Amino acid sequence: MRTISIINLKGGTAKTTTTINMAAILADMGKTVLVIDADAQANATQFYGFRDPDKLCENTLAELLNAYESFGRSDYAEDYVRKTPFSGIDLVPASIGLLNADIAALKRGGNLKTIEDLLDNLNEDAWIENGVPENGASAYDFVLIDCPPSFTAASVAAIYASDDVIIPVEADLFSITGMAALIAQINSVRRIQPRVRVAGALICKWHNTAACIQGEAALRASSVPIFTQTIRRSDKVTESIFSGQSLQAYSPQSAAGRDYRAFVAEYLEGVR
Ligand SMILES: Nc1ncnc2c1ncn2[C@@H]1O[C@H](COP(=O)(O)OP(=O)(O)OP(=O)(O)O)[C@@H](O)[C@H]1O
Ligand SMILES: [Mg+2]
Repeated sequence: MRTISIINLKGGTAKTTTTINMAAILADMGKTVLVIDADAQANATQFYGFRDPDKLCENTLAELLNAYESFGRSDYAEDYVRKTPFSGIDLVPASIGLLNADIAALKRGGNLKTIEDLLDNLNEDAWIENGVPENGASAYDFVLIDCPPSFTAASVAAIYASDDVIIPVEADLFSITGMAALIAQINSVRRIQPRVRVAGALICKWHNTAACIQGEAALRASSVPIFTQTIRRSDKVTESIFSGQSLQAYSPQSAAGRDYRAFVAEYLEGVR
């Protein structure tokens, strides 16, 4: 199982778009994927068919954080996992309750291990169901965690549970300056969880303008690893989300659709 947090402190950089499309591409490859929505805005949760996430008040990530806080461990891990309409993709939903859970958890000092324990429990359940596993057998091939545009208890727990961090960015000056703060935060988690690796920043919504080209050059000159593949700006992205489909289903030959496939191939090459 490989766990990936998709994070940026800046809003609207294509975190959720990247999560949804990476999940779809991995599922098309026959991989099993768990998407964890760690954002109180619950955009991924809505995409996967929970149209009114404000009404979700049972077994979302918010309750998991609370249960963990109250009982010290997350029992019944599978209760938090929902099937989605997409074959091979399951979801731990978010709800607006995450906002309060976050604040409450932070006041209690937060709990770093909530998501990691959930994944451990899911793996144990899978082993019990399927007998003693071969080395490395696990409940899912990939876990993708869609993080909020802020540093919350949920995003800290997401990074702690992760092998890799992917940072979707736009090629502009504010993204470059904001990234230093994010890397400092990731490093603070790495001090207690050294396994976590910044796989790279992914330049999204790329378009052929002088500002974008200049921004890309500045990002590539920084010390943060940047994926070679960029994701081009394409109207098909917003259209696909409206239609409730991934780009791979809605418009696989669109610029962004092709770019996301090439990006996932580059990511997988890097973790082989
Ligand atoms: N390659 C692209 N081309 C055009 N539009 C895009 C592209 N990627 C993302 N978008 C659009 O940008 C907007 C923000 O994307 P998204 O919701 O994925 O960002 P986010 O980082 O998850 O935002 P938030 O910080 O609010 O969680 C959406 O309207 C999305 O459709
Ligand atoms: Mg989002």
